[in-house]
Amino acid sequence: MAADGNVRFKPVEESCSSEDETDKVTPFIAKSKSKRGFKYEKLIKNEIDDNLRSKIEEIGRKNGKPVNHFLKRGIFFSHRDMEKILDSYEKGESFYLYTGRGPSTKSMHIGHLIPFMFTRWLQEAFDVPLVIQMSDDEKYFSEDLQNGEEPVSIETIREQTRENVKDIIALGFDVNKTFIFSNFEYMCPEYYKNICRVQRLIKLSRMKIVFDFDDNGNIGKINFPAIQAAPCFSSSFPHIFHGKRDVPCLVPCAIDQDCYFDLMREIAIKLDCKKPALIHSKFVPSLVGGVRYKMSASKPGSILLTDTNEEIETKINEYNADPIPERGSRDNRSKKSDVDVIYHYLYYFMKSDEFDTLKTKYDNDEIQSDDLKSELIKILKTIIGEIRQRRKQVTDEMVKRFMTPRPLNYKYKHGSNEIL
Ligand code: TYM
Repeated sequence: MAADGNVRFKPVEESCSSEDETDKVTPFIAKSKSKRGFKYEKLIKNEIDDNLRSKIEEIGRKNGKPVNHFLKRGIFFSHRDMEKILDSYEKGESFYLYTGRGPSTKSMHIGHLIPFMFTRWLQEAFDVPLVIQMSDDEKYFSEDLQNGEEPVSIETIREQTRENVKDIIALGFDVNKTFIFSNFEYMCPEYYKNICRVQRLIKLSRMKIVFDFDDNGNIGKINFPAIQAAPCFSSSFPHIFHGKRDVPCLVPCAIDQDCYFDLMREIAIKLDCKKPALIHSKFVPSLVGGVRYKMSASKPGSILLTDTNEEIETKINEYNADPIPERGSRDNRSKKSDVDVIYHYLYYFMKSDEFDTLKTKYDNDEIQSDDLKSELIKILKTIIGEIRQRRKQVTDEMVKRFMTPRPLNYKYKHGSNEIL
């Protein structure tokens, strides 16, 4: 905040859209022109270095959590204020986790598993409450309609929300520590007041820069970022935090969602709230277009949590890696592993340390594409199979419990009896 009391925003060139000659990353589009995919070193906010990684792992170990390969392998590669979260946690002060899903389709895909699985690990490692936003309103606003075109109905999106909530519950979150809410259904006075406070502080000109909005978008779309941002202020959840404004919030998400919260960090002081902290992941790529594109529910090229074993097998077997461009010096030339989506999927989903030798073996032709495919099919059948089994046990009653506003099992100061 400036001396005159006004919020000073960052200069234009620091907007959300990270666009150099190769990459464009916003919440609506994530695309790299390079055959080798996203240049994460350019998207990074603050590096998760060895020191920070060991601190997180150490806390996990104390709570009986084995090392997480998402962290160890650098899949979560970037953060904002993670040290502050850890420092206050070590002094006995808790925080809460906030993440979300925009239910654009009936089933989530394997890319969505990254932030959600890691969020579960964090919840168990730190023993903290979690709020999950289903931004169904976002999906209602998101499509820019051509003349005469009808938007997807609110009822259809609500149905998608229900199905996605079941997917999320099937990932194993603790109902006593987790509140899942749909924006169409949860709008309490305190949350709405926070949304208004955020809207009051941000100019349209700023939104156009950060989110690439143009004048043809509907006004719901322009209004939406405040709705995604306000849950990072604890007073939006009076049933959990009893009016306390300063419970720190940590948001795990892929890097495309950063800009919503970066905006909030700029205005948090004005709102007498803590700046949200973030921990960012890379993108699981799409089967169509290769490592240049993130897997996206609204586009072809996804492996879905509802896919049968046969569908998983067919999708993977039918994938053909793009040919490698023969440009650059020998050292600079792309390797097979750089451009092969199957190898990249193993990077995200093969937990075992055997992964560490895979790159060399594959690039030296000691193993072939079919070997990677059969390993991946085995792994995905197991992961998706387990989710499928747990999902069968998710009843309407369980959905209702997760989505009912209620106190969560949560102590603000751990080790003491101070319950909010
Ligand atoms: P959505 O539904 O597009 O994605 C949900 C979460 O998954 C991440 N994600 C991916 N991660 C890795 N690889 C991919 N291919 C991939 N595609 C998506 C997203 O970054 C996100 O973390 N507006 C949000 C929903 C939302 C939200 C939030 C997200 C509402 N509140 C708070 C994070 C935090 C959206 O449409 O996400």
